[in-house]
Amino acid sequence: MTIQIAVIGTGYVGLVSGTCFAELGHSVICIDNNPEKIAQLKLAQIPIYEPELAEMVNKNIQAGRLNFDTQLQKTVEKSQVLFIAVGTPTDPGTGQADLSYLKIAAREIAQFINDYKVIVVKSTVPVGTCHLVKTIIQQENPNAQFDIVSNPEFLREGLAVYDFMNPDRIIVGTETESAKAMMNQIYQVFDKRGIPILFTDLESSELIKYAANCFLATKIAFINEIANLCEKTNANIVEVSEGLGLDKRIGAVYLKPSPGFGGSCFPKDTLALAHAAREILSPLSIVESVILSNERHKAYMIEKILAACYGAVRGKTLTVLGVAFKANTDDVRESSALIIIEALQKQGANIIVYDPAAMENAAKVLSNVVFAKDVYQAMRGSDAVVIATEWPEFCDLNFDCMGDNATVVDLRNLYDPKAMYAQGIRYFSIGRKPVITSKKPLCVD
Ligand code: UDX
Repeated sequence: MTIQIAVIGTGYVGLVSGTCFAELGHSVICIDNNPEKIAQLKLAQIPIYEPELAEMVNKNIQAGRLNFDTQLQKTVEKSQVLFIAVGTPTDPGTGQADLSYLKIAAREIAQFINDYKVIVVKSTVPVGTCHLVKTIIQQENPNAQFDIVSNPEFLREGLAVYDFMNPDRIIVGTETESAKAMMNQIYQVFDKRGIPILFTDLESSELIKYAANCFLATKIAFINEIANLCEKTNANIVEVSEGLGLDKRIGAVYLKPSPGFGGSCFPKDTLALAHAAREILSPLSIVESVILSNERHKAYMIEKILAACYGAVRGKTLTVLGVAFKANTDDVRESSALIIIEALQKQGANIIVYDPAAMENAAKVLSNVVFAKDVYQAMRGSDAVVIATEWPEFCDLNFDCMGDNATVVDLRNLYDPKAMYAQGIRYFSIGRKPVITSKKPLCVD
């Protein structure tokens, strides 16, 4: 059955969700208060780096299932279900989730409710926010007939369309049978594919989202600390991680060492949940330590780079390959590469950067760096190369352009130390022995 859906907010979550709802056969209008953005979207011009999205937007616009508009009133009036997918950024002062955009959206929607609506909070929000939205709408429009629903998303940037269309599960928090029936209609395609739809209460649904992100962040912080321990004990993190992951209770994913987790979610959500828990005197000591561990790990990465450069980088030219917080995205928010670059600049290094997709976003936040046109222009003549993002094009590079005794600090373990030793490259990675092509080479496992 086709449901008339409105999605308020056309960021990563709103745009992907609205487009995929249309792909499921529903009739969708995505709303944003930015007319230039809406004009672009109407032409299927996508402002985010998300594989498959532009094609899916275009296909569903042509099919008449997907529209974009700035007019909230007529969209609310003709929609049965209204998804709120506005941003809930971190308040830099407290780490708390900033709900101002959500509250504005709730107030604006409330005034236009003309018959029964299901109002769905898809944004990542602290526990209790759905009740807050419900109260705001009731205060704005005491006659409004609606139900509130929590329906968090689990979309990874760069894989968001895939993740939406292939969910492990769908989480829905409801208070009434009518809301539950409507959400069943919306997700019936997945139900028919045997994908579990977990119906729960509002608070549990809200907490599942935060707890999921905090748990994944915990796995990453854990494996990064184990990697540092490997370096002190001559163990090999690649094998330790594999050995851990073969235990089905642990699982192999989110056990890749890195320069620390970044992005628009893990840093924000760990801070927000830790803050919310502290506020109600139920502190999350593990999440708190994950936040600290991730910060310490970034600092350790900087020490590693300095050590690889004989203890000092002043006056040296260092190339940083990758600024995006992970591969297959142009997003640099909270990217560890930014912290590393700024720290190396403070130590007097001259920095050259290259990233296949994130150069434009990097240029908005970095200064006094050289932006190379390609990976080899970035590396040529450099004193050391730091690989910060696991882009596929960084996985099979020829380092000859760096001359003899090239130094490579690989923060994503893309290379085999033995192969680097054979090429005479000074190779440093995470959780594995460094390869120093001195006359007395360290034994290479
Ligand atoms: C995450 C969650 O995965 C997603 O479910 C949620 O909806 C939004 O937040 P995203 O932030 O896009 O998605 O990226 P993800 O692929 O999860 O990676 C997050 C960070 O963890 C990146 O910095 C990545 O490099 C790092 N990471 C990931 C590791 O360091 N090691 C790993 O093994 C996996």
